[in-house]
Amino acid sequence: MEQKRLVLDYCEYASLAEMPEAERAVMEHAIEATGRAYAPYSHFHVGAAVRLSDGTIVPGCNQENIAYPSGLCAERTALFSAGAQHPGKAVEMLAVVGRDAEGRLVEASPCGACRQVMAEWELRYGQKMVVLCYLGEGQIRRIEGVDKLLPFGFEAKV
Ligand code: THU
Repeated sequence: MEQKRLVLDYCEYASLAEMPEAERAVMEHAIEATGRAYAPYSHFHVGAAVRLSDGTIVPGCNQENIAYPSGLCAERTALFSAGAQHPGKAVEMLAVVGRDAEGRLVEASPCGACRQVMAEWELRYGQKMVVLCYLGEGQIRRIEGVDKLLPFGFEAKV
């Protein structure tokens, strides 16, 4: 048996001001989208935004449902909205941020199902995306490529 190691490279910005303009714009759209979340059950408002290959920014926010599993996360809302409105355009960046019941911006990182959908976007367009996660206190994590969020993900020749 051979012992192997997985190394994960990513970076963190100390503040929004430190981000390059294009990345900051996507995060700002995600922050704005928290205000449109429908989260009467969890009271956790999540905002997301994706930047497409032509520079268009598409927002999304969580959409909850009284039958809990019928709701949808902010990230998938943004991606499916982009797919429905702008088919044929790759996603270059995805930003996500949470807002708690007291209105404070808080950390949010994509759930497993959203990671699988994000992986599909990379597969669909043959292009990696940059993932920006708000960490709280103005800090942002920057990850290049969904494989880092979903290592050893499902692959099949179909
Ligand atoms: N949620 C998201 O929108 N994105 C995530 O990455 C994690 C969770 C939503 C789902 C639900 O509406 C609420 O946050 C609490 O789990």
